[in-house]
Amino acid sequence: YVIGIDLGTSSVKTVLVNKQGDIVGEATASYPLIQERPGYSEQDPEEWVKGTLTCLKELLDGKQAAAEDIEGVSFSGQMHGLVLLDEQNKVLRNAILWNDTRTTKECREIEAKLGDSLLEITRNAALEGFTLPKILWVQKHEPELFAKAARFVLPKDYLRYRMTGQVAMEISDAAGTLLLNVPEGAWSEEITAAFGLPAGFCPPLVGSTEDTGTVLPEFAQQSGLSPNTRVFGGGADNACGAVGAGIVRKGDALCSIGTSGVVLTYEEDKSKDFGGKVHFFNHAHPGAFYAMGVTLAAGYSLSWFKDSLAPELGFNELLAPVGSLPPGADGLLFTPYLVGERTPHADSVIRGSFIGLSGTHRREHLARAVMEGITFSLAESLALFREAGIEVDRVISIGGGAKNPVWLQMQADIFGIPVVSLKNEQGPAMGAAMMAAVGSGWFASLKDCADQFIGYAQTYEPVPANVEAYSRLFKLYQQVYAATRSLNE
Ligand code: XUL
Repeated sequence: YVIGIDLGTSSVKTVLVNKQGDIVGEATASYPLIQERPGYSEQDPEEWVKGTLTCLKELLDGKQAAAEDIEGVSFSGQMHGLVLLDEQNKVLRNAILWNDTRTTKECREIEAKLGDSLLEITRNAALEGFTLPKILWVQKHEPELFAKAARFVLPKDYLRYRMTGQVAMEISDAAGTLLLNVPEGAWSEEITAAFGLPAGFCPPLVGSTEDTGTVLPEFAQQSGLSPNTRVFGGGADNACGAVGAGIVRKGDALCSIGTSGVVLTYEEDKSKDFGGKVHFFNHAHPGAFYAMGVTLAAGYSLSWFKDSLAPELGFNELLAPVGSLPPGADGLLFTPYLVGERTPHADSVIRGSFIGLSGTHRREHLARAVMEGITFSLAESLALFREAGIEVDRVISIGGGAKNPVWLQMQADIFGIPVVSLKNEQGPAMGAAMMAAVGSGWFASLKDCADQFIGYAQTYEPVPANVEAYSRLFKLYQQVYAATRSLNE
C-alpha cells in the first residue's frame, strides 16, 4: 500500500491506495483559517501536523492495511504558503497562505527590481499569492523576527520535515515561490542575491518521486505509521491534481471546475512565451512543465446563481432544462467576474455581467448563460496556450463541471476538442499516492502508473454546428471585458 496526503487550505485528506490503484481507505480532518485583517490569510503549521496525525491514525485503525504493509507516503500541498523556520527549524510565525493579499506593494517592488529578468527566470508574473512577496513583507514589517529566520519551507514540505526530520523543498511547489529558475529547476542566485536572502535560506530541492527519508520514531509512534515507511517528494496541489487525472502526456489538458476553475496543460518545451499571462510551473514528471490559467469564480458563479435565484432547487433540478436550450441561451451572455478575474486579465476590480437580457429569458436561460460564461472564461486560458503554440488534443474534465453531461458536452463544443471524464475521480490525494507508488518502485514512471491507475469514463466529441456557434459567441464574450471595464471603477 501507499498513502497520499493532500494538505489543503481548509482540510487535510489522506487516501490509502493498493497496488491496483484502488482507494481502500480515506480520512479527512479540517483546520481553521486565521484572518486577523481583511486580506490576511494565515494558518498555524501545528494544525497541519495535528490534522495529519488524526487522519493517519484513523486510516491505520481501519485495519485495511498493517503499518508494515505501507511502503510509501507522499504529499500534495496547497501552494505558495510561507513557513519561516529558525536555525533549529522551529516555526517563527503563522504561515502566510496563497490566498493572502497583503503584498501588492512588495509585488511592485519585485517587478521594479528584477525588470525583465522576473519573467525570464521565474516564467511567472509577481502575484500577491506567491511566496517571495510574503518573505519581503515579513522582512519589512517584522524585522526582528526575520533576523531569526534561517530558512523557509512550503506547507507540505513542513509536514515532511515533521515526519522525517529532513528539510527539503519539492520542485513543482518551489516553482510557485518566484525564487526558482523554472526552466532550469534550480534556485535563482540572481533573485536571492537581489533581495539579500541569506545563504541556505532556500532549502535543498527534491523531485516528486524522490526518496526523502523514513518516518521518525516519534512521528511513527504518534501516527501508527511504521518507522520503515519511506517518504517521497510529492507535489504542488495543481501538479498532483494533474497527475491524479493522468495529465502526463503532451496534448492532454486538464479542466477542473471547483469553486475556482483551472485549465492546465502538460508541456515539455520550456521556451514557450506566455508573456506572464498564465502561470508556468515545473510539473511533477521530471523535466516537464505545465501552463495554467485560473478562473476565480467558476463553480462559485453557478452556486451564487443557485443560492440567489433558485435556493429551493438542487443543482440537478436547476440544470435539467438547460440542455434543451440552444448554444448562446437565446442571446444571453454572462461574464463570471464575481470576485474579479485572474486569467487573462489579472484584474481585481472588474465585476460580472449579463448582456442581452430580454423579457423572453427564463431562469434556465440565465443558468445556461452562467455555465457558458464560466466555460468561455476557461476557454480564454486555452486560447492563450494555443497562441503560444501549445497543441491541445483533448481535455480531461474533473470537478463540478464533470458531474453534468450537458456541461461536459458544452466544454467539448466551446473548447472545440474532445472532452473526457474519469471513471473514478480522486483528485490531488491520488496524484500524491501515485508519486509514492513510483517512488516505492511499483512503476518506472508516473506515466506508467497513470496507465494502470487512471480509467476514462466517457468521451464527449465536439458537435460541428455547436462549435461554429460558440466560436462566434466566444468573440462577443471576449469583447465584454473591455466594454464593461470602465463601468467598474
Ligand atoms: C495556484 C494557487 C492555488 C493554490 C490552492 O497558483 O494559488 O491553486 O495552490 O491550494
